[in-house]
Amino acid sequence: MDSGLENVVAAETILSDVDGQNGRLVIRGWPVQLLAASMAYEDAAHLLWQGFFEDLPDVADLGARLGAARVEAFDLVAKIPDGLDIVRFLRTGWSLLEDDESLNSAIRLAAAGPVFTAAAVRRERGQAPIAPDADLSKSADFLKMITGKVPGEAEARALDAYLVTVCDHGLNASTFASRVVASTRAGLVSAAMGGISALKGPLHGGAPGPVLDMLDEIGIPENAESWIDSALSRGERLMGFGHRVYRVRDPRADALKAAVARLPGTSGRIAFADHIEKTVLGRLAKKYPNRTLETNVEFSTALLLEALQIPREAFTATFACGRILGWTAHAREQIAEGRLVRPRSVYTGPVPEMA
Ligand code: ACO
Repeated sequence: MDSGLENVVAAETILSDVDGQNGRLVIRGWPVQLLAASMAYEDAAHLLWQGFFEDLPDVADLGARLGAARVEAFDLVAKIPDGLDIVRFLRTGWSLLEDDESLNSAIRLAAAGPVFTAAAVRRERGQAPIAPDADLSKSADFLKMITGKVPGEAEARALDAYLVTVCDHGLNASTFASRVVASTRAGLVSAAMGGISALKGPLHGGAPGPVLDMLDEIGIPENAESWIDSALSRGERLMGFGHRVYRVRDPRADALKAAVARLPGTSGRIAFADHIEKTVLGRLAKKYPNRTLETNVEFSTALLLEALQIPREAFTATFACGRILGWTAHAREQIAEGRLVRPRSVYTGPVPEMA
């Protein structure tokens, strides 16, 4: 029995390799740092989906189909009920899409992510949604649908760097959930429902919002030690630190930190965050001398998405907009594997009395 499944290998994949001992992440042959520095979202979609859909077009055509699918998805926004937080708004919107195992289904999911996320942000603010522009790149359109303005090249590139960095990451909880659902042949939308439901938990994709809450509560560098010590003494987990697989620094944290540093006006916030990060790492090392707890991707994610003026309530949904590429590719890989995922349990309940 292995309750967290740490030592269980449950899939063979050609999608990504997480080397937790050496802090390396390879996505279909690309080191994540290179992917983050050079690829747009559309390129990453093509990279992850190739080999899994026979009708996958070239990158330019795929970009055009993603743009057209954003426009189609916008018609569904009005059907999503009020009163949902942003990640549930996205999950509900996705659930309205046709559920099959085709490339069209994967395109619709990837395209609809930013449309529903941006509409949810605006609905929370009491603003009307902004229709997508099929001619913009996905990242530029995502930011425009939130703010109403076409972003600069640097901002669109930074969002691309984020979405591409988080597009896949081995058999993490949400990807595993997607593969389990896909193995029942329920469809890619159902697999994405499994993925987003797992992602929304604070121990997985719900951490970056609370990272900013922590920075805000600490407020000034002089408060760092006492704030952190009292959180740890209450047994709280500090968001943006620790990882199930990495025993060294998460390589995605540095890929994203470089992307934040390229954005204008971020140096002061980065300096403050660096101070908090160093203080947290020192305190965690003291409390857990036998366990290496390092910075994970969520810490830099928080700084990057904040700099792009994406509200913190939308961080998990934005994460899902990147990870949908991995969920759909893994779902297709699991379907091709052709085996229903069905582990066993050990019964520890009462036994019936024998007559
Ligand atoms: N803050 C304080 N203590 C921590 C933290 C943390 N961030 N992370 C681990 N610990 C503690 C655990 O409570 C545990 O203490 P205990 O033995 O007294 O119970 C000890 O360190 C060892 O824990 P691990 O075995 O390393 O933790 P696990 O592998 O179960 O959990 C997880 C990994 C969930 C990511 C954890 O580190 C955590 O909760 N981090 C904060 C949330 C976070 O940042 N999540 C995003 C992860 S990245 C991603 O999913 C995209």
